[in-house]
Amino acid sequence: MSFVAQFVRADTVRTTSGRMPWLSRIQMHFHYLSMKILRRPLLSAHIAMILACVSVLVLTTFITSVRYLQDPDKALVPWRQYCSEQPWFVRADVEHLAPVNFLVGVITVDEKFERRQVIRSTYASLTTPRHPETGQPLGNVQVKFVLGRPRKEYAERIALEMELYNDIVVLDIKETQWSRKTFEFLRWAAENATVPVLVPHTSQSHPYMVNGTPYEVRWKLVDYVLKADDDAFIVLDELERRLRAAPRTMAHWGYKVADWFMSGEVYALSQDLVQYIAHSPDIAASASRKEDEQLARWVATHPRHADLQWLSERCWVYDHPRASTPYAHGFLFPDHVESIKEEALHGLSAKELARRGGLTKALSYSTTTKWNTPYTPPRPDLTVEEGVEALIEGGGRWAHSWYRTTRDPDTPRYVSLYDFILPSDDQRLGPKLNASGEAAGPATYDPSTGLAVYAEPVSHPAAARGPNINEAWGPNLFAHEDQLRRERYLNYTVGGTVVVHYLKHDAWFYETALALLGHRPLWHRGSAANEWRMYGSPLVQPFSSTHRHIVQDAPRTHL
Ligand SMILES: *[C@@H]1O[C@H](CO)[C@@H](O)[C@H](O)[C@H]1NC(C)=O
Ligand SMILES: *[C@@H]1O[C@H](CO)[C@@H](O)[C@H](O)[C@H]1NC(C)=O
Ligand SMILES: *[C@@H]1O[C@H](CO)[C@@H](O)[C@H](O)[C@H]1NC(C)=O
Repeated sequence: MSFVAQFVRADTVRTTSGRMPWLSRIQMHFHYLSMKILRRPLLSAHIAMILACVSVLVLTTFITSVRYLQDPDKALVPWRQYCSEQPWFVRADVEHLAPVNFLVGVITVDEKFERRQVIRSTYASLTTPRHPETGQPLGNVQVKFVLGRPRKEYAERIALEMELYNDIVVLDIKETQWSRKTFEFLRWAAENATVPVLVPHTSQSHPYMVNGTPYEVRWKLVDYVLKADDDAFIVLDELERRLRAAPRTMAHWGYKVADWFMSGEVYALSQDLVQYIAHSPDIAASASRKEDEQLARWVATHPRHADLQWLSERCWVYDHPRASTPYAHGFLFPDHVESIKEEALHGLSAKELARRGGLTKALSYSTTTKWNTPYTPPRPDLTVEEGVEALIEGGGRWAHSWYRTTRDPDTPRYVSLYDFILPSDDQRLGPKLNASGEAAGPATYDPSTGLAVYAEPVSHPAAARGPNINEAWGPNLFAHEDQLRRERYLNYTVGGTVVVHYLKHDAWFYETALALLGHRPLWHRGSAANEWRMYGSPLVQPFSSTHRHIVQDAPRTHL
């Protein structure tokens, strides 16, 4: 090799190795090796064989591990088994137990303004559990958002948000310090998670009058502290009843993953455990990185660890149907769980077992979702209401039809613009004016709804103008929804879903609220009772983003 050639080659190698050194090095070695092999044919046969064996081995391992990673059976959650094993909740008796007070700390970050607003307007707006018959408020639930020190760009907005809503706890840690957030929250809660209570009035203080009796307002530490992530939807009423039935000390409520381990997304601790964690020097010294396992380690250090009560709720805590995680399935109601229990008792027919793909798959079978597969609605043209119903395990109201008939009480009717031009005596225009231009009708207001009440009923013009305006939509909807709820809850008021997890989009909160709470508690209080229902606009395609995955062959039998 001449000096020039040597120089040129060295130069080339240097430039290539500058760009992709490993590749060129492999190329060089390969080149060198193949030259050697070609020159010594006897050795080459051995090496070729070894190489072939190794490549077959590597390939097999690769395929196996890819198969393993993609195998949906590996992580199947036998939720049907959990539901059939979940003891019946003592629904009727629980109303006689003393209500519990608790505080939910939603662990979130400074920049998630919209998420906080969505939570405030959905489940967190229902913080007063009420007696199902008397409507009397029971107990006291607080929902607070837990942040670290907000970053500079968000500080002002958060200060205003705190002032306006009074529901934000700012911990003295860096906003991004996730590993310490839960611990610092519990430390805060041990001192400051309180609810107001009334105590008999003493002469020194300012009285607070309730039905003519003087009280004073004091603060009391809550019975339970909850830690929740900001992608969880908590049905507070259900949770309150579950905690009522739980012991008030040494208790720990959540979704048990293993014998020693609760899922970190939502759990409740009795006040004494909060005090223990907040004040144990060992725990303070070892704030761990793995958020999920933190709690398990903390409670493991408790001197009376063996006496801890692990209250696990694996049936009524699950992932949102659109999540396509192993924990996802349709929204669950007690009537469907009843049928799951029946199924467990009597077993499946061989045909049904085969349809569900064997025993393992049958235990995690869902009518709505499949792990690792994006959710697809049963038909492409569902209305919003049908779309929500379709996410209910078992298929919801239209499970066996997926069509609407004109006789269906829920048939949507679009009100034409013409119908908004009301005759001058329509009561919705307000009280009639007398000759001097003043309101002739009485100006009384219903105290519960805040709506004007007229002494002279104006006959409603709806009947005269055909079916387009239906004065009774509001009450009809509620009556229908109440009836449905009674059926789904087997005539009880509680005993169903407690937490839905993994709500990755704000819209999923609305969906979950519609499915689990219904319209009644969320329509603006009072006014909706007399409100005709505004249906969605044809200009808005609610589920268009999922339409790409539509099953095309879904039959459309009737319309
Ligand atoms: C409890 O609240 C008070 C008043 O805001 C505050 O000074 C105190 O530091 C809080 N406790 C903890 C542990 O954060
Ligand atoms: C109109 O109604 C107001 C309030 O009810 C009443 O005070 C007034 O006398 C009425 N005027 C006439 C002309 O009836
Ligand atoms: C619920 O109550 C209704 C009417 O009182 C009754 O017909 C129905 O069978 C009850 N359902 C259950 C599951 O008890």
